[in-house]
Amino acid sequence: MSEIGTVLVTGGTGQTGRIVTHLLRRRGVEVVVASRRAPQQPLPAGVRHVRFDWGDATTYDEALRDIDSIYLLPPPLDPDPVDVVDRFLDRARAAGARRAVLLNSSAFPLCASGLHAVRLTVQQMPEWSVLLASGFMQNFLGEHPTAIAVRTDHEIVAAAGSGRMGWIDAEDVAAAAAALLTRADHCSREHVLTGPEALTYEQVAATIAATWDLPVRYRPITPAERGSHLVDAGLPATFVDALVGADVLTASGAEDRVTVEIPQLLGRDATSFAQFVRRHAPRTTTIDREE
Ligand SMILES: NC(=O)c1ccc[n+]([C@@H]2O[C@H](COP(=O)([O-])OP(=O)(O)OC[C@H]3O[C@@H](n4cnc5c(N)ncnc54)[C@H](OP(=O)(O)O)[C@@H]3O)[C@@H](O)[C@H]2O)c1
Repeated sequence: MSEIGTVLVTGGTGQTGRIVTHLLRRRGVEVVVASRRAPQQPLPAGVRHVRFDWGDATTYDEALRDIDSIYLLPPPLDPDPVDVVDRFLDRARAAGARRAVLLNSSAFPLCASGLHAVRLTVQQMPEWSVLLASGFMQNFLGEHPTAIAVRTDHEIVAAAGSGRMGWIDAEDVAAAAAALLTRADHCSREHVLTGPEALTYEQVAATIAATWDLPVRYRPITPAERGSHLVDAGLPATFVDALVGADVLTASGAEDRVTVEIPQLLGRDATSFAQFVRRHAPRTTTIDREE
């Protein structure tokens, strides 16, 4: 892609999409934000919103009009989004889009879950990137169920045993996406994105306890207990399986890694967990900070 044209940001009113939009506008890139509901906060100057619903294919063509690149957030909570994303990307290519940057999690096993298999679907685009992100540090902020448990019960509950994870700031994920959406020297490949250190949940709890002055502890539970918790929290059973699977992978050590992708893509260090909790009060969200 010789010139950076217009970027469609799916999930553009969400956590990462909001930041991707701001970063692209700062670079002077034309952006169209796509989501079902109108944005609750004003969009940056010059950004257009389009109503887009993964479940309603009649919304695809308007969203894809004159689009060159796509920040691709698959339908949230859909445990098997392959077919719907496939259909959307068919239309995207037909409409002239060339590049897609997919956000995915590093913790879903390939093939065992449609959540992860979608990373193969995106490879039908002439230019593609797959971001395999580690757990977001933002899960400990705002209205995320983990954050609510930290504030109200002073505990973090997971079936991850003493497995480590390379927790990442969603702002770093969004910055990586913005970089890949706009790079002229694009190379289509997967990027495993982590923060600068792999931490156990005990270490995460200790850092939060020390910084936010909350007596937070980690309580390891079994995968079956974890599944019941998530179902009680209202998540669909099929998606719960994927989340429990991610915990089990973490317990096995599969997420115990640190990559150099963020420093390489952004030319700076990734945010550490300690820096992150120092920068945020428990209730704030990334979006609050952005505005
Ligand atoms: N949390 C983690 O630890 C973690 C780690 C790695 C990867 N991830 C990945 O991060 C992704 C979530 O990203 P995020 O936090 O930036 O998103 P988010 O804050 O949850 O926002 C979701 C966005 O998608 C839109 N949306 C929801 N349902 C839609 C639908 N049916 N059709 C069209 N748009 C829809 C929402 O707007 P409307 O509701 O108005 O449509 C919103 O803009 C997930 O795919 C997850 O796998 C998360």
